Amino acid sequence: MNYNKKTVTDIDVNGKKVLLRCDFNVPQDKETGAITDDKRIRAALPTIRYLLEHNAAVIACSHLGKPKGEWKEKLTLAPVAKRLSELLGQDVIFAKDIVGEDAQAKAAALQGGQILLLENLRFDPREEKNDPTFAKALADMAEIYVSDAFGTVHRAHASTAGVAAYLPAVSGMLIQKELEIMGGALENPKRPFVAVLGGAKVSDKINVINNLLEKADTIIIGGGMAYTFLKAQGGSIGTSLLEEDKLDYAREMIAKAESKGVKLLLPTDTLAAKEFSKDAEPVCVPSMAIPADMMGMDIGPETRKAFAAAVSGAGTIVWNGPMGVFEFPAFAEGTKAMAKALAESGAVTIVGGGDSAAAVEQLGFADKITHISTGGGASLEFLEGKELPGVACLLDK
Ligand code: 3PG
Repeated sequence: MNYNKKTVTDIDVNGKKVLLRCDFNVPQDKETGAITDDKRIRAALPTIRYLLEHNAAVIACSHLGKPKGEWKEKLTLAPVAKRLSELLGQDVIFAKDIVGEDAQAKAAALQGGQILLLENLRFDPREEKNDPTFAKALADMAEIYVSDAFGTVHRAHASTAGVAAYLPAVSGMLIQKELEIMGGALENPKRPFVAVLGGAKVSDKINVINNLLEKADTIIIGGGMAYTFLKAQGGSIGTSLLEEDKLDYAREMIAKAESKGVKLLLPTDTLAAKEFSKDAEPVCVPSMAIPADMMGMDIGPETRKAFAAAVSGAGTIVWNGPMGVFEFPAFAEGTKAMAKALAESGAVTIVGGGDSAAAVEQLGFADKITHISTGGGASLEFLEGKELPGVACLLDK
């Protein structure tokens, strides 16, 4: 996949109407609708500021949540317009629709240096179907398409890919940064290259493990997915998470690691408990002999040390997925130790979005990490080496 794409700084935007796809899919308080984390809005600011300073008329658009093609008042982008306006220190005009009368009139009247935000793209069922009539209606309001929605580049939707058929399409600064850092780490990593994979399911990471076995020197597996690997090696895992139908795959990956000379590290001790609860009492047991009535909930102290030692001399570290049930304080130590080890490693450190990014932030190590991706699913598919439709549609340099 070619990551060398034209960006917003390669073209003339002065006085032009620019359709800017952002990923403003931010978490919100279920009751009040208040934005609980504005990281994704902040991440879009460099491109927005660049465009406004270069006298472009910016028509920003995004999805929020999963309204499934229906108008859902709870998922309006109005709170995002308000927050964006506060962050930019200028008015953000908000359209009551997406490609309807209000949006079209406001886009037509928009001047260089002004910004308009359209309503939630996924209120229209044509967005996720990548319907060309919707893509064209979006394109008709603008002269240039800039995509800066890294979190959605794995989706082939009208606003993330379809629209590029009608307008010159370039990347914004966020996508450029994500491609440069993550692409660089995968294509030409400073070695040793260590990948740390966790999270609940093996099935989510199948292609990631497979792809990283071609590139990494060491792969560390923790979190819920480790138990399937432990069982595949003949361990007793009690009531821990198990994907029975992935046992053969786990054996295959263990064999592949051996044949390629990649070190594959699994937990040797585990914090187990009788029930999945924040008040459950952690008991440290050998990972290959978890009692029949207990489930593994975190890596143990010996494993924490071994995993930290494995990343300490690394040149590049990519981390995706927590080491345990870190939302329960008694089972957060493994994830904490990993975050600390990355922060202290001196390596180029990249944390994939979603849970591991949240963990690094919650635990206070975010400023010691080279790059925290804004993509959850997108960064996983990137690590899988898949072609990303929202990147492939952009003009090559
Ligand atoms: C994300 O939150 O990962 C992106 O915004 C994509 O959202 P989606 O999974 O609903 O397509």
